[in-house]
Amino acid sequence: MLEVVHVPLEGREYDVRIGPGLIARAGAEIAPLLARPRVAVVTESNVAPLHLETLRQGLSAQGIEMVALELPAGESTKAWPEFTCCVEWLLEQKIERRDVVIALGGGVVGDLVGFAAAVLRRGIRFVQIPTSLLAQVDSSVGGKTGINAPQGKNLIGAFHQPALVLADIDALNTMPRRDFLSGYGEVVKYGMLGDAEFFAWLEKNGPALLNGDQAARIEAVRRSVQMKADIVLRDETEQGDRALLNLGHTFCHALEAATGFSDRLLHGEGVAVGCALAFELSSRLALCSQEDPSRVRAHLSEMGMKVDLSDIEGDLPDAKALLALMGQDKKVIDGQLRFILARGIGEAFVTSDVPKETVLTLLQDALAAR
Ligand code: GLY
Repeated sequence: MLEVVHVPLEGREYDVRIGPGLIARAGAEIAPLLARPRVAVVTESNVAPLHLETLRQGLSAQGIEMVALELPAGESTKAWPEFTCCVEWLLEQKIERRDVVIALGGGVVGDLVGFAAAVLRRGIRFVQIPTSLLAQVDSSVGGKTGINAPQGKNLIGAFHQPALVLADIDALNTMPRRDFLSGYGEVVKYGMLGDAEFFAWLEKNGPALLNGDQAARIEAVRRSVQMKADIVLRDETEQGDRALLNLGHTFCHALEAATGFSDRLLHGEGVAVGCALAFELSSRLALCSQEDPSRVRAHLSEMGMKVDLSDIEGDLPDAKALLALMGQDKKVIDGQLRFILARGIGEAFVTSDVPKETVLTLLQDALAAR
């Protein structure tokens, strides 16, 4: 059961292969890319015990030698010191221009290694082996790479497309339920932003997918990746349509900042809460029907996800302070907040034309319901 989404960017095209057993088969998948039978793998401390040995065996079955670097797990790894460590290690390993680096892990490893590959010897090829749902459906595809700065998340980086993505569905079996659901926040976002039929499919199949249905997981990852690939193809460097992928993210980034980027709110949880708020805002602006936000909230609740601000533990700043945090968003242009709103489920669009007072009242109401 292997699905392939091709990303046909001119001169930098690649496949995203989705299915079970891909880590164990990595040698056969990667061999055609190699100029010599040697690769460098960068991973992190939670993922290494689960998948590194399988990868080593999969590579060695094709006579490919592997050297590996294990970074500490967690978002704080996406920073200059670990980045420097990674780049210098790759140089010490004598990784050459024609070699391939493998990122084995979630979004943190994928983003950091992709950025290292973008700048090492002015750019070498890299393969993403995403092991989390969030990385499989979002961060491993599309070429956004980078690290965080003290001033904000993902502020340092480069666009650098992978040469291949191997999304091994079996890796999802070892994910904690909360992390899996956080990744699901990004999956359901695709339905909400551009494919009402996919949203309806998720309403029907979401619970089975959460409980381990492999065929449903493959289908959900395939459709998410296909939609992302289509958008990236239209707008690789986010001059327009790619911003649609940020549905829910303007609210999410403010909530993540308000909760100190801690595990009080995982990224995909913030995306889900943010999407619910974006649909509520769209309804208040009479862009979509009142039923749409209710349907979004009903599905998120059924999946056991965070939906409301009251689902976030601990104190939150008041509405004005949250609005100020939204002003730090990367999508702000000339001080104007940009929102992704919707005319219905599957019909998102980008706009700056949102009265601040409406957003403020929305946040006040959401906080009052806590
Ligand atoms: N995660 C949003 C994007 O890749 O554009």
